[in-house]
Amino acid sequence: MNHAATLTPEVLTSLIAMVREHTGIAMTPRKSILLERRLQPRLQALSLHSYQAYLDKVASDREEVVHFIDLVTTNDTLFFRTPQIWAYFEERYLPDWARRHPGGCLKVWSAAAASGEELYSIAMACEQFKARHPSFRYQILASDISQQILNAARTGQYSGRSVERIRLSHPELLRKYFTASPYGVQVNDELRQHVSFALHNLLEPLQPQQQFDVVFLRNVLIYFDAEHQETVLRQARHSLKDDGRLILGESETIARLGTGYEFEFPMIYKTGEA
Ligand SMILES: C[S@@+](CC[C@H](N)C(=O)[O-])C[C@H]1O[C@@H](n2cnc3c(N)ncnc32)[C@H](O)[C@@H]1O
Repeated sequence: MNHAATLTPEVLTSLIAMVREHTGIAMTPRKSILLERRLQPRLQALSLHSYQAYLDKVASDREEVVHFIDLVTTNDTLFFRTPQIWAYFEERYLPDWARRHPGGCLKVWSAAAASGEELYSIAMACEQFKARHPSFRYQILASDISQQILNAARTGQYSGRSVERIRLSHPELLRKYFTASPYGVQVNDELRQHVSFALHNLLEPLQPQQQFDVVFLRNVLIYFDAEHQETVLRQARHSLKDDGRLILGESETIARLGTGYEFEFPMIYKTGEA
């Protein structure tokens, strides 16, 4: 019989510290059930009988850190999540950018890309714009701290809720940019050729250093405390051009943080001109 390990308050405190050390994510002891649910199968797979043994394993084994990060991050996402962001990007930002940079190449960073729905939404919006403005070019960098979820983004195969949502919201784009696969749907190379992928912790400088016109930093700041939010925002600022745009999630605001961004619209901030 398999006895589930119990998570004592002391070990929970150490686990929360380890989550923060490796991801920056701030968890409270109220997350104990979530942590147990996510880590228990890993303990079983490794035949470990206590969370302390698992903590020791993560502390001493770099490869286990990769699994640990996969398990403790939350990767929920959707295609075209938050319609007003996409209305802004497609109808306002892209036409204005193309007018000011004729023949230029727009550089966009999806900075907590999860399984990729956001980055392929960016790519679809850009492709649609390009169909009407053939000289427009774009490149997207997609990054995440979780290796497993970044691999899913790179693969570009979707099923279930993700596909149902885009089938309802943008059926024409689903038909145009995806092909049916045994798994569900597969994103076409037409979109993938514009995307590169990088494993990246937002608390650290992006390597190699690059500058973007737009950084999508959506639904990730909520996981950090104010100190780490400031660090992430500062790092993102280094990767944004002057007159760049930072796009946040619905429940995120940077109003209280001294970060050098100016409010443009709800969820959208700009960097000043040099
Ligand atoms: C809820 S998803 C957001 C996905 C997408 N941006 C969206 O808004 O739909 C949050 C993502 O942030 C990633 N993440 C968490 N901490 C991170 C860190 N320190 N550096 C980079 N990515 C991180 C997680 O792995 C997860 O995939």
